[in-house]
Amino acid sequence: MSNSATLEAAPAAQAAVSSFMIYSPTRIFFGADQLGPFAAATAKVGKKAFLVTGGGTVERLGYLKEVTDALVAAGVEIVHFSGIEPNPESATINKAVTKLRESGADFVAALGGGSAMDAAKAIATLAATDETDIWPFVLGEPRAFELQTALPLVAIPTTAATASEVTPFAVISNRVARGKSFLIGEHIKPLVAWLNPAYTVGLSPTTTQDGAADILSHVFENYLLGGSGSHLADRYSEGIMATVLETLPTLLANPNDISARGNLLWASTLALNDYQSAGRPATDFVLHYIEHALSAFQPDLAHGRGLATLYPAYFRWLLAKGRAQDRLAQLGARLFGLTGTEQDRAEGFIAEFENWLQTNGLWQSLEDLGFSEAEYPAIAAYAVKTYGDGEQINALGALPQSEIVDIFRNTQRQGQK
Ligand code: NZQ
Ligand code: ZN
Repeated sequence: MSNSATLEAAPAAQAAVSSFMIYSPTRIFFGADQLGPFAAATAKVGKKAFLVTGGGTVERLGYLKEVTDALVAAGVEIVHFSGIEPNPESATINKAVTKLRESGADFVAALGGGSAMDAAKAIATLAATDETDIWPFVLGEPRAFELQTALPLVAIPTTAATASEVTPFAVISNRVARGKSFLIGEHIKPLVAWLNPAYTVGLSPTTTQDGAADILSHVFENYLLGGSGSHLADRYSEGIMATVLETLPTLLANPNDISARGNLLWASTLALNDYQSAGRPATDFVLHYIEHALSAFQPDLAHGRGLATLYPAYFRWLLAKGRAQDRLAQLGARLFGLTGTEQDRAEGFIAEFENWLQTNGLWQSLEDLGFSEAEYPAIAAYAVKTYGDGEQINALGALPQSEIVDIFRNTQRQGQK
């Protein structure tokens, strides 16, 4: 990267910094030696934890025993619920709530990736009511966002990806309805979180890649559509992007690099804690909306893999529409040291980023992921119905259903087959 590009001054004529409110109730402990303090803080949250985990990894790697031993030593009783699937299923959440009610637990803990954490959040909010089914309460369904209370939550992320330990979101899937959507609210923000980089050392190369792609998306979304009103949000976001771009290759070469694991894990939290976009107006999360529609149709698709597949075609669509060109150009200058006209830098950014995807195992088409072109209209229809007005979603102007289909088709050039 050239210095002249990285030290490029903020443009003289700037939109004002937008107003914002941030609510960050999560007490965050970071580091392998913070289990004791985490357990002590958790003991103040409640007496009996309903501890939610995924498909067996945390048992196999010994994390579950370590965490439960520490919580029990701090005076917390544990009721363990395992079996949350990647892209957590509403039926499993409903089943867990029945178990929680039988158990008398007074708070919910999660140990796992975004799926276990999101399931825990959904369990905590459903359990605070007399209801038995979470699905009607997600965005796009009849009773969306009616749930406004929850049992207290604590979380231990074991992926570097979603930031669910600090976000107000819980993303839920429904294989029967072919849906993937979310709950949102301050009431499901965890009160305590422990980030232990050592727990992420066992992640497979694929899950590490998926997580890196997800972290990037959390800073790309509002950076691209939110305008240039917050110079600090830009620099903050670029710091996270640069860290991910540098760290993923390091980890693919040496998965045990604990320093790189720590940087990626912390980057994941910082990428979606609201500070990344503070001072810019709120915008739609277009890549996420489209990816959720893809996962709705193929529940085995990892969220980050879907996002990575959409990046090139979405960025090229923005550029072809003349939208966010200045923002893409700024990324070209600041992340890759590009110079030249705005158009040169914007196109150059996309080319450099595509090269990074290719060299880091994140380059594939939707066909490579098992989708067929015949499904594209139905998937795009789900996206505009759930996340838009039924005909389009908002990406600095309309992104209609037919152009989402074009984006899907344009992933074909990324094909490996
Ligand atoms: O199921 P287990 O056995 O735990 O295995 C998981 C799963 O197979 C495995 N894994 C987790 N920690 C591991 C590990 N393997 C080895 N070592 C470890 N330390 O990784 C696989 C994927 O886990 P998952 O939790 O599904 O991945 P991720 O953390 O990427 O979460 C994805 C879910 O979060 C949602 C996504 O849509 C998706 O449903 N998101 C949640 C957000 C939020 N709550 O704010 C925001 C995100 O944008 C995202 O939408
Ligand atoms: Zn995401």
